[in-house]
Amino acid sequence: MNFPLPETLAAPAPPPVIARRPSQLVGSTPVLWIDEPFAPAGRGFYAKLECANLGGIKDRPGLHMVREARRRGDLVSGTPIIESSSGTFALGLALAGLTFDHPVTVVTDPGMEPSVLRMLTTLGAHVDQVAAPHPDGGWQQARRERVVELLARAPGAYCPDQYHNPDNVAAYRPLATELIAQLGRIDILVASVGTGGHSAGISSVLRESFPHLTLIGVDSVGSTIFGQPAGPRLMRGLGSSIHPGNVDYAAFTEVHWVAPAEAVWACRQLGRRHYATGGWSVGAVALVAGWAARAYPPGTRIAAIFPDGPHRYLDTVYNDAWCREHQLLSEARPCEPDEIAAPDECVVTSWTRCSQVRDPLAHERVKAVVVR
Ligand SMILES: Cc1ncc(COP(=O)(O)O)c(C=O)c1O
Repeated sequence: MNFPLPETLAAPAPPPVIARRPSQLVGSTPVLWIDEPFAPAGRGFYAKLECANLGGIKDRPGLHMVREARRRGDLVSGTPIIESSSGTFALGLALAGLTFDHPVTVVTDPGMEPSVLRMLTTLGAHVDQVAAPHPDGGWQQARRERVVELLARAPGAYCPDQYHNPDNVAAYRPLATELIAQLGRIDILVASVGTGGHSAGISSVLRESFPHLTLIGVDSVGSTIFGQPAGPRLMRGLGSSIHPGNVDYAAFTEVHWVAPAEAVWACRQLGRRHYATGGWSVGAVALVAGWAARAYPPGTRIAAIFPDGPHRYLDTVYNDAWCREHQLLSEARPCEPDEIAAPDECVVTSWTRCSQVRDPLAHERVKAVVVR
């Protein structure tokens, strides 16, 4: 079989044999080759397994953002960190709080899985749950408003603001350099989009070496990020009901919206066929990266970012009864994606791709600059 090992396989810097601190175990994550059933044997993609970090992909921005805030003097020793998160970033912040000795409060909503809630408490974070969604901005906006309220009550407290803080994007330089060391050449990057941090950060560094890199964004149906109207969203991690400033619209070649049943199928296939699986964003990214492996010429080297592992999703994605209740179980592989010419052409409810990517708030941002 034509097993597509990269031509250059330079070893990434090895982790310390014995870590003195948990933060030393962040980064240098492995890459796994994935082909069937997403693509024919030998025509797959390389999955960067960020579940190998202690918490997940957001250990990287958690540590980096807090380190940078302390360096600038925005965060003074011992003062609280308060942030809104649906889970993975909260784990990263708990790690940063422990590393730099800051109390951490995570504002979340009732959709947070009980296992993550328990995990966060175990790791020393305080969890504050909002009770109702914001009438326009949904749960995300409700969480953000609660953060503002808590910050006003705690002088000196710091909010990293992962949606708009450029340190979130900058945190991914090491991940990109690891990928280059692991794969040698990269033609396509497939990344899910929530705050926009990892897609922007990894692609900008990869383009310093590979200027023609194709960036495929993966979003959730019902997410507003790429210009769809807000709708119900079952999937957590990827997608948003706001327009995060860290999304680098100009960087994307195309965007795919994926529905929950399609992500469930992909997550379960990953587990069954490749052992390494994860949450909603992992399934959605695998589905789209497999499509890219079929759609682009043989030999195209595709890297896909898998942000976390499966444990948090045992009561949802991997729970038959829960999936049946939400009509998410299907043995058949999802069909090819539908195609639309413009992101707002129609409301998408299943896997759909669009090769026109634009900032839905571009007009408002221009107006704001003119007024200023
Ligand atoms: C599990 C998971 N996948 C994907 C994402 C999206 O990543 P980003 O915020 O870097 O766009 C997130 C963001 O919170 C996440 O938690």
